Order: sequence, then structure tokens, then C-alpha cells
Amino acid sequence: MGRAKISIIGAGNVGATCAHWAAEKELGDIVLLDIPDKEGVAKGKMLDLACCGPIERFDGVLTGTSDYKDIAHSDVVVITAGLPRKPGMSRDDLIETNVKIVKSVSENIKEYAPDSTVIVVSNPLDAMVYTAWKATGFPTNRIMGQAGSLDVARFRTFIAWKIGCSIEDVTALLLGGHGDDMVPLPRCTAVHGIPVTDLLDDATINECVERAKGGGGEVVKLMGTSAWYAPASGTIQMVEAIVKDKKRIIPSAAYLEGQFGANGLFVGVPAMLGEGGVEKIVEFKLTDDEQKLFDESASHVKDLVDTVVRMFPELA
Ligand code: NAI
Ligand code: 2OP
Repeated sequence: MGRAKISIIGAGNVGATCAHWAAEKELGDIVLLDIPDKEGVAKGKMLDLACCGPIERFDGVLTGTSDYKDIAHSDVVVITAGLPRKPGMSRDDLIETNVKIVKSVSENIKEYAPDSTVIVVSNPLDAMVYTAWKATGFPTNRIMGQAGSLDVARFRTFIAWKIGCSIEDVTALLLGGHGDDMVPLPRCTAVHGIPVTDLLDDATINECVERAKGGGGEVVKLMGTSAWYAPASGTIQMVEAIVKDKKRIIPSAAYLEGQFGANGLFVGVPAMLGEGGVEKIVEFKLTDDEQKLFDESASHVKDLVDTVVRMFPELA
């Protein structure tokens, strides 16, 4: 079998770090693309990264470019192009600028990599996945958004810190949009199989829930721009599941047709990822309280999509 090809659009903090994790895991050949003004940055970062190969022991062709012809035959394309937020901004404040960017990027993906599976990272995430879907016209199994893999990793980290155990032993699940109303599920959080509710009191669990919800903002406040290590790591976890056909269940923004009571929207749910992209949504019964929180989060996603359509009627 040939090597997988992974293209990453946007050679900024998240895009370049995606290239880094993908190279280090030797997932395939990697293309990093930015606008013509930043072609030198894309080329320079990939040259620099390629020279880690002998030390980190990875092979693969690493290409920096601004030419969409270079993304031809990609198995997976990751969209990280767009503005990140600054202190005081919400993810939603980025909508107008980033829809324009993600729309034009998606049109190029449609033309140059029509058989690829697309993972959207640009914010506001839930609206950008919708934009990429409309602008590519790809089937819904080949369009998804990265948010849950990051948000759940933050939640697992904070739980592990409270317990003082290895993060490897904490498993968790989180639903909903990539906003402050995301829905971590303590009921589905365990420490080596032991329900976290048996190990930590409600107030401590709630502290971790709130910190995970505000995790993106906490980093923005510290650095003046948004995070990139964990967002890129979460994205490459999804890429790996697809290119290795692992059938991993990863919370992802996936298209819902009635699952969890949502319809016609991309919302964060447990999704089985493999060579077919989103191969299955893993649905299960929520408690009344969880369903209420999920409905609120999905309704925020719907508001965002309505805003996109109001601004760009051609995306209806
Ligand atoms: P950055 O500013 O470091 O990089 C963005 C890159 O996109 C720049 O190099 C820029 O030149 C490029 N770009 C702009 N327009 C483009 C176009 N039309 N075609 C190709 N490239 C283009 O920003 P950073 O930190 O990498 O963040 C990127 C996006 O990811 C932001 O929208 C941010 O909010 C989002 N993000 C999403 C996360 C998630 O979990 N879904 C987490 C972290 C960031
Ligand atoms: C994050 O959660 C800002 O979406 C970005 O770090």
C-alpha cells in the first residue's frame, strides 16, 4: 500500500504543528499550504521539519507551497486557515472573515482534491464545518470538524491532575459544539474503568468541567492568541484514525440526521473514524439533563449557521 497523503491548509501555529505531529507519527507525505505571500513560511517550516527526519526517524515527502496543484490525490485535507482569536474575542467574532477564507479554501479542495476527506479546524468551528460542507459539496461522511478531541483531552488532563494519576488512565466523553456551552459528561468519565464520580466529589468534577469549557480562553488570555499544541494533536488523532482505518471513536463535529435529536447540523458527538471518514455516529441515550444541555449547544450551533447563511446566502 502506498503512503497516505495529508494536506494542511494554513501554515500558521495550528497548521504547522499539525504537520509536526503528523511527521513525527510518520503518517504519510505532508503538504503545508498557505497564501502566496506566506509561501516562504510554508516552505521554510517544511524544510526545517524535514531535517528532523534523521533524528526523529521518519520518512515521507514534506512540501511547503501556495499552489493548490500540490494537494492533488490527498487522502485527508485539514483546514486551519483563518484568523485566531485575540483576548476579549469569542470564537464567534471571527465568523465573517473566516467564512470567506474557509469558503475559498474549500472551493480549491473541491477542485484539486475531490476525493479527500476534510477535517475543519478554523473557528468558529461548527460554522466553518458547515461552510466547508456547502462549498465542497462533499458527502457528509467526508466532512468533519475537530473540537471534541481537543476539548475532551483538556477535560481528561484536568481530571488526571486532580487525581494525581496518569492521563492515560482517564477516559471521558464530551458532546456539543466547540463553544463555552460544550457538554462534558462526568457520567461517561472513568479512571481505569472506575467512574470518576466514585473518586472525586461533585465540586471538583465541576471545576474540571468548567476549566475544560474555558480551556481555549484560558490559553488566549495567557498568550494573546489561541492554542496550537493540543488543537493540532487532537486533529492528528483524527487524521491517524482515518489514514490507518482504525475505527476509533473520537468526539468530532459530524453531520447529524436525527441522532441525539439534532437534524441537518454538524455537532460534536462520538464518531467512528476510519478510511470512510465518519463511518458511524455512536448514539446512546442521554439523561434528561444531558439532553437539555446538548439541545442548548446544538441550538447555538444552529444560530451560528443561520448567521453564516444570512451573511452568505449562497451557502444556504
Ligand atoms: P495563525 O494566524 O497562526 O495561522 C493561520 C494561517 O492561515 C496564517 O498563516 C494565514 O496566512 C493562513 N491563511 C489565511 N487565509 C488563508 C487562505 N485563504 N488560504 C490559506 N491560508 C490562509 O492561526 P492559528 O493559531 O494557526 O489558528 C488557525 C485557526 O484555527 C483559527 O481560526 C483558530 O481560531 C482555529 N483554532 C481552532 C481550534 C479548534 O479546536 N477547532 C483550536 C485552535 C485554533
Ligand atoms: C481553542 O479551543 C481557540 O478553539 C481554540 O483553543
